[in-house]
Amino acid sequence: MIGTGYVGLVSGACLADFGNAVRCVDIDETRIALLRSGGIPIYEPGLKELVGRNVDSGRLRFTTDIAEGVEGSDVVFIAVGTPARPDGSADLSYVFNVAESISKHLNDYKVIVSKSTVPVGTTREISAFIRAKAPGDAEFDVVANPEFLREGSAVEDFMRPNRVVIGAETEKAKDLMKIVYRPLYLIETPILITDLETAELIKHASNAFLATKISFMNEIAAISELVGANVDDVSRGMGLDGRIGSKFLHAGVGFGGSCLPKDISSLIHIAASRGYEPHIVRAIFDLNQKLPGRAVGKLKEELGILRGKEICVLGLAFKPNTDDLRDAPSIRIIKDLVEEGAKVRVFDPVAMDNFKKTVPIDVTFCKNPYEAADRSDAVMLVTEWNEFRQLDLPKLKQAMREPVFIDCRNVYKPDRMFDHGFRYRSFGRGAEARRKKERPL
Ligand code: NAD
Ligand code: UGA
Repeated sequence: MIGTGYVGLVSGACLADFGNAVRCVDIDETRIALLRSGGIPIYEPGLKELVGRNVDSGRLRFTTDIAEGVEGSDVVFIAVGTPARPDGSADLSYVFNVAESISKHLNDYKVIVSKSTVPVGTTREISAFIRAKAPGDAEFDVVANPEFLREGSAVEDFMRPNRVVIGAETEKAKDLMKIVYRPLYLIETPILITDLETAELIKHASNAFLATKISFMNEIAAISELVGANVDDVSRGMGLDGRIGSKFLHAGVGFGGSCLPKDISSLIHIAASRGYEPHIVRAIFDLNQKLPGRAVGKLKEELGILRGKEICVLGLAFKPNTDDLRDAPSIRIIKDLVEEGAKVRVFDPVAMDNFKKTVPIDVTFCKNPYEAADRSDAVMLVTEWNEFRQLDLPKLKQAMREPVFIDCRNVYKPDRMFDHGFRYRSFGRGAEARRKKERPL
């Protein structure tokens, strides 16, 4: 398993738990040293125990030596990052660096698997690239095996996936992949075997469809505000239709993370580079980009100018149960607030260290939500961590200078917040406006 990030480490540990012998390789020496000493470089529920158990059993090992990793393996997974370039296309330099290293160590037949999310056509290009670099008698096949796990529930998602997609074109490769995933076969997980390009497109299409559901509901939220409807009930009413499904219909400040935004940009690029304009996918992306600004707009409607105001931001991670800040809406919001001259106090249960290390914006880090709210002019709830669902509202309000609460994830019920005396704003609750008119605060 080459790459020990969110996907590589979780996949490596889970595949070891399936009974395979796994070597995880990373070029980051600090990361490998940490893993070897029993530490875990990312926050992911259940991962520490899983890694510990499989290291103890001798099935899971960590190394920086790619030769050791490749030469000793039948199947080599490439699980390195594929970040977006400034033009939206995927940066494949990490993937091809790894492919180059693999080409030097093909001591016997191997299956080389693209686990990273790559543009359609990449796995076949990896094959041609390795064929051109490797000795003439090197034997290998390539497979596209995209990963569908979510951060925050990655271990559970890998252990009990809705499906496994394997793009493979030789029987030998298919057979080896079936052995790797044998425990999932036994629990009757659907395993879909396709050609390489189809497997790659299934991944992009799935992420784009999930993002479509979210952006669609955010559009309905904007309309709900204008017509006096409640988007939570609209989504519940829609989701009860089995053809629509109730998941991923939660309106708010939009999707972030290392994957949905980047994979949508990549899909737009894939289509455009073949001369097709992907109207729907582009609209999903454009709408999502506007949402952090809309949250700050709601704040300004309550507070007027923000210069000199103290704003408390609850939640930094792009979603709960992760420390990942990549493309997090919180960063866009905080940047806007600081640019407007506000001072920002923040609290997040796990992502503050990451923020300190990676985001060069001056904020005050606090120990808990109440310290962050202390003498603030407004609270913005940006990530719906469980502990923010049960805030002591009287205590919070008492700590604040002004009782303005912008709920970017629709965690609270408007009526309850009005009853507590908050000037409360959320997304897509047109009833808020009606209630405000009926009972001015
Ligand atoms: P990540 O940034 O967390 O980890 C990548 C790791 O690869 C890093 O530890 C890095 O040091 C290592 N690396 C880079 N070059 C290397 C090399 N030459 N040799 C060895 N190691 C190298 O990335 P991630 O979030 O795990 O994502 C990996 C891929 O999986 C991406 O394509 C992503 O789109 C896809 N994916 C991610 C998720 C997710 O939830 N994060 C889910 C599904 C798919
Ligand atoms: C997403 C997909 O769900 C995974 O299947 C996929 O493997 C992964 O991308 C990937 O390719 O990396 P992830 O980014 O970890 O997983 O998180 P999600 O749970 O999908 O949430 C993404 C964003 O959408 C978050 O910012 C979340 O707050 C937001 N979201 C989610 C909503 O705004 N509304 C919803 O109803 C659901």
